[in-house]
Amino acid sequence: MNLAELGTFLHDCQQCRLASGRTQVVFGTGNPQARIMFVGEAPGYYEDQQGIPFVGAAGKLLTQLLESVGLSRSEIYIANVIKCRPPNNRDPLPDEVETCKPYLLQQIQLIKPKLVCSLGNFATQALLGKKVGITKVRGQVFQLSDFVLFPLLHPAAALHQGNLQGPLREDFQKLKQVLDEMAQAETETPASSPVAPSPLHSQSSIPSPPPAQMDLFES
Ligand code: URA
Repeated sequence: MNLAELGTFLHDCQQCRLASGRTQVVFGTGNPQARIMFVGEAPGYYEDQQGIPFVGAAGKLLTQLLESVGLSRSEIYIANVIKCRPPNNRDPLPDEVETCKPYLLQQIQLIKPKLVCSLGNFATQALLGKKVGITKVRGQVFQLSDFVLFPLLHPAAALHQGNLQGPLREDFQKLKQVLDEMAQAETETPASSPVAPSPLHSQSSIPSPPPAQMDLFES
């Protein structure tokens, strides 16, 4: 199944209670071959209306932040853990996450991004497979088996709590460093070179990654 076929398959998904309240499934948007993917929590009102992730206020802030680090929405791929809007934008319930998460993982498998940026607690916990608070892990690099995970604060959190605007911008500045390291690793290492094995959940701080860190981004 390719990405478009997965989207079509989910178009009329009835696997959880969210099907009854949604306007439409919000599958994902952007470059199906993106090297960088962003994952949010769940669609809100405007996303549910338009069928596109991150088009409301948080989406506008995300677009600005992306542009501030030289990324355009068209070059990346954006999706959510949950593909249907929860009623009144409530938090997704654990069984909704369990039902929908396999489709996010399938999207990641099909897109094959090198770097996945999780926005906020839900996306970070879903992808890390651990109940860890975003404030503990934001701005850190996690080598997972198929991609590098980089958790950031959720833009909606910064809209609701003004004191998180600075920290959110800091996360994007760290992301810029990660992107620069990716680009540098690619110019230094030919694509055919062997990739050193890396531990499942290795973690290091930016900006001084150990040499193995550079291998995270080889193609
Ligand atoms: N819009 C989305 O698509 N996802 C979020 O997590 C928040 C707003």
